[in-house]
Amino acid sequence: MQSQVMVEVRDLAKTFKGKNGDDIQAVKGVQLDIRRGEIYSLLGPNGAGKTTTISMISGLLAPTRGDARIGGHSITREPLQAKQLLGVVPQEIALYPTLSARQNLDFFGKMYGLTGTELSRRVDEIVDFIDLRERQNDRIETFSGGMKRRVNIGVGLLHKPQLIYMDEPTVGIDPQNRRRVLDTVQRLQQEMGMTVLYTSHLMEEVQEISDRIAIIDHGEIIAEGTLGELIQQIGEEDRLTFKVGTQSVPDALLAQFKQEVEGVTSAVYERHDVTNGESETLAQVDGIVTIMAKRGRKALPDLLRIADDAELDVLSVEVREPDLEGVFLHLTGRALRD
Ligand SMILES: Nc1ncnc2c1ncn2[C@@H]1O[C@H](COP(=O)(O)OP(=O)(O)O)[C@@H](O)[C@H]1O
Ligand SMILES: [Mg+2]
Repeated sequence: MQSQVMVEVRDLAKTFKGKNGDDIQAVKGVQLDIRRGEIYSLLGPNGAGKTTTISMISGLLAPTRGDARIGGHSITREPLQAKQLLGVVPQEIALYPTLSARQNLDFFGKMYGLTGTELSRRVDEIVDFIDLRERQNDRIETFSGGMKRRVNIGVGLLHKPQLIYMDEPTVGIDPQNRRRVLDTVQRLQQEMGMTVLYTSHLMEEVQEISDRIAIIDHGEIIAEGTLGELIQQIGEEDRLTFKVGTQSVPDALLAQFKQEVEGVTSAVYERHDVTNGESETLAQVDGIVTIMAKRGRKALPDLLRIADDAELDVLSVEVREPDLEGVFLHLTGRALRD
């Protein structure tokens, strides 16, 4: 009988040497079990160690310590057998810009040892799967970021892996193509029965597609489980966001929210970068106060009164059900959005 576990990561660690000879502990002893057929996400801010982890468990980077088994094969001791089972979609697009989509797929297919009709049949299947039949003979350099990303996914599928790693596949592409990439991830699971390891720093998409989620921060898994399990860990706290028109909020005011309003467990302020393009168009928004509270709606009137007394320029208020942003904030005291 096949094991239910597709990827088993044990005490995986990587320490890089920094420019000044100092140690950078990028990954600090990660343990993971990814089950066959699930979409498993690693969620964490930039620099958390997602790419380093993926690089080690795909055999591209030697771990300082620990190991990963793919379908029972150690990536460090049996790399050929392990790599046979997995496809990788790297964070950086790795395609030949002056070749067409089809020529790129042909090229990488040959590297995997595919030839003749086997190769052309496989490339046909992939071109259909990534929905690029119409544009298959156009050069990659004429493609949008999202189309390139789909070709990149296609390359990762050529040798029919059982498992695919995708490292931040939606970064730098427009919302419509982002949607298509997310649909592709779900079709890989549903139509091809594949196991997917997905990384992102965007909690909305992780929340939408994942069966299970590991939250990674500073090279460590700080929480793991289904969305429901993760939310339970924070005791069903609501997340309140106040968009404010001030460049800073005194710590004393944040502390006052926590001390004087029942159910409030944390209050943080962060500057809001309007130029980051994330759906935000309110130009006068300078920052966001995020407050975690049990029974958020009940806490709201008191919070607003305190804000008003302190003459905080509150532009809008939102109360949200518990979500991954709240889980991250609860665990780290920081917003995931940074
Ligand atoms: N080749 C390297 N040399 C030195 N430091 C590195 C190297 N690769 C990554 N790092 C550092 O390791 C940490 C984790 O990086 P990374 O795995 O790329 O994070 P993520 O993919 O989550 O953004 C960061 O602090 C990064 O600067
Ligand atoms: Mg990365």
